[in-house]
Amino acid sequence: MEADPGLGPTILVCGWQGELVRSFVDLGARVVALVDRANREPARGDSRLSLCDRVFFISSFDSLEEVGAIAAELLTTGVRITQVVSPKEVSQHCAGYLEALLGVAADPLYRLRLRDKRLMKSTLAAAGIRVARFASVPSPEDTDALAAATRRLRPPYVLKPAAGYGTMSTYECATATDLLDIADTLRLDPQIRSRQLIVEEFVPGEELQIEMFWSAGVLVHLVVFKYHRQRIRMMPLQRSHRDGVRLVLPEEDPDAYAAIETMATRAARAFGITEGTSQIEAFLDADGTLTLSEIAARGGGAWTPALMKEYLGHPLWDLIARCHLDVPVTPPHRTHRYLASISIRPDEPGRVTAFPSREDYEALPGVLSWDRVRNVGDRARLHHPSDYYVHVIVGADTLPELDERCARAQAELFVQVDDLTSTPALVPATEPSHG
Ligand SMILES: Nc1ncnc2c1ncn2[C@@H]1O[C@H](COP(=O)(O)OP(=O)(O)O)[C@@H](O)[C@H]1O
Ligand SMILES: [Mg+2]
Repeated sequence: MEADPGLGPTILVCGWQGELVRSFVDLGARVVALVDRANREPARGDSRLSLCDRVFFISSFDSLEEVGAIAAELLTTGVRITQVVSPKEVSQHCAGYLEALLGVAADPLYRLRLRDKRLMKSTLAAAGIRVARFASVPSPEDTDALAAATRRLRPPYVLKPAAGYGTMSTYECATATDLLDIADTLRLDPQIRSRQLIVEEFVPGEELQIEMFWSAGVLVHLVVFKYHRQRIRMMPLQRSHRDGVRLVLPEEDPDAYAAIETMATRAARAFGITEGTSQIEAFLDADGTLTLSEIAARGGGAWTPALMKEYLGHPLWDLIARCHLDVPVTPPHRTHRYLASISIRPDEPGRVTAFPSREDYEALPGVLSWDRVRNVGDRARLHHPSDYYVHVIVGADTLPELDERCARAQAELFVQVDDLTSTPALVPATEPSHG
């Protein structure tokens, strides 16, 4: 990372993340923050906002006009941004535009390659990394493109937005007829703006979440988790489906672990990821074949900060800030041999009336922490797998013990809801988490 010798690094953070801001400032960096409407109130209520050199409020990260004006203001007032960081998926394009305007982009396609699954898979395939075969469908109405996809690819298929997130509007289609039927009646989640789609061949196997931390192009940590259940198989959401991930230790399968590390390093290099955190999702089938699913220049899903804190023995955001600033990192010191996250959500849609109490959590063996991401009064829609309420972090000494503790926590913790019509909305629905 190149820094102005007189000023030191100035990091532009797209999206509000108070702990990350504090970590950057504690390490001597200046921070310029960009906050969208969805995070305006949380940011204004956060004392760490005053740690920022500048704060810009905008309506949406997708507003080119507002983002362009911020770049002009920074350029004409002599603020030299050394890095742009986007902890969330929804601000990736904004980060890319700012990088290009402020002259900190090595490759103008950097963010688009990480955002659009067609460009992402082409980049990965060109680097010799195994990915699902895919076809582009420019809109759900493009029946020619859909038919061409079914001729070229083998069923079963996955139909999803070309640049979606959070497993929104994502469908498994057993046959060509299913695919055409689903496309015909497709109503994309309103949070997905582009109507361009991708069709992929379905990849069997367990699904992995791989967190990587880079400093000056060096991989300083690699952490592998396995989803309890494939994301796509979470729908329809029901209590019996365990949602979340568990830590995978290298000694469980040293060959697979080594292959994951090789693939992850090659993938990150193909995209030019050299600093901060990045995440990969991959499939591992029964024969040990690894297929990369997607890659992002940000951390994993909403459970990741709480889970990584138990893994590291210190806060995730400090590690991320150190990686961006090329400051030495502290070795991980996990609190339990095995760790997992589970997500607790209501049984039915409605209005949230209660979360588990501290006593409820503390009564359960192995429950280490919990992270409530919604509020009483929020609307519970249960309309996609990333509609989260509370993430619970569980620790154990053995895998059977971890499994038993996760099952017990899931059975005994409840998020309660009321009929939607009975109470007014107290808090607007929050944006979904990526993952
Ligand atoms: N080709 C595929 N084969 C099997 N499952 C898939 C495939 N593509 C997507 N999925 C499933 O759908 C989920 C969401 O797809 P993904 O590509 O990760 O998009 P996003 O997380 O950005 O919504 C994945 O986590 C996985 O469970
Ligand atoms: Mg994904």
